[in-house]
Amino acid sequence: MQFVSDSELQTEEYGRMLGLSVKCGDIICLDGNLGAGKTHFTKGIAKALGIGDVITSPTFTIVNEYRSGSILLLHFDLYRLETFDDLENIGFDEYLDQDAISVIEWSNNIPDIHAIYSSRIIRVNILRCDDISPTRRIINIDGVDL
Ligand SMILES: Nc1ncnc2c1ncn2[C@@H]1O[C@H](COP(=O)(O)OP(=O)(O)OP(=O)(O)O)[C@@H](O)[C@H]1O
Ligand SMILES: [Mg+2]
Repeated sequence: MQFVSDSELQTEEYGRMLGLSVKCGDIICLDGNLGAGKTHFTKGIAKALGIGDVITSPTFTIVNEYRSGSILLLHFDLYRLETFDDLENIGFDEYLDQDAISVIEWSNNIPDIHAIYSSRIIRVNILRCDDISPTRRIINIDGVDL
């Protein structure tokens, strides 16, 4: 499915729409170039899950954890990682064995993820359309019925 966003709020709203359709165990792979809106999209997912915390980019911490009641949201940012070994070093498998909803920004940095977890993955791609407008984004969502 393809959606058009013209503001960060609209991107967040699409994230919220997806967040209403996800279940525990789902892995949302969130890709798109620098500043595409991946973290804003994640804010919307968190909102849909009832998470009231401020969502910040885990670029340096690699993963942030948020809870709302029994729901656990794992928010990864793999921007600084390069190999599957880097992932193993942060205990990625153990994180994903938890009963959580996972969002992975920059998942394309470690393509092995897509092969290993294929049955659990929802792909979201956000494309900047700077030639049309500085705030235009095309959002593609695959692997879930909305
Ligand atoms: N339609 C839009 N959707 C989302 N963000 C937008 C949009 N138009 C402009 N922006 C701006 O683009 C930036 C997106 O920031 P955000 O941190 O969400 O991107 P990101 O893809 O997570 O970046 P990074 O690659 O650093 O992780 C913000 O400064 C936001 O204001
Ligand atoms: Mg980000």
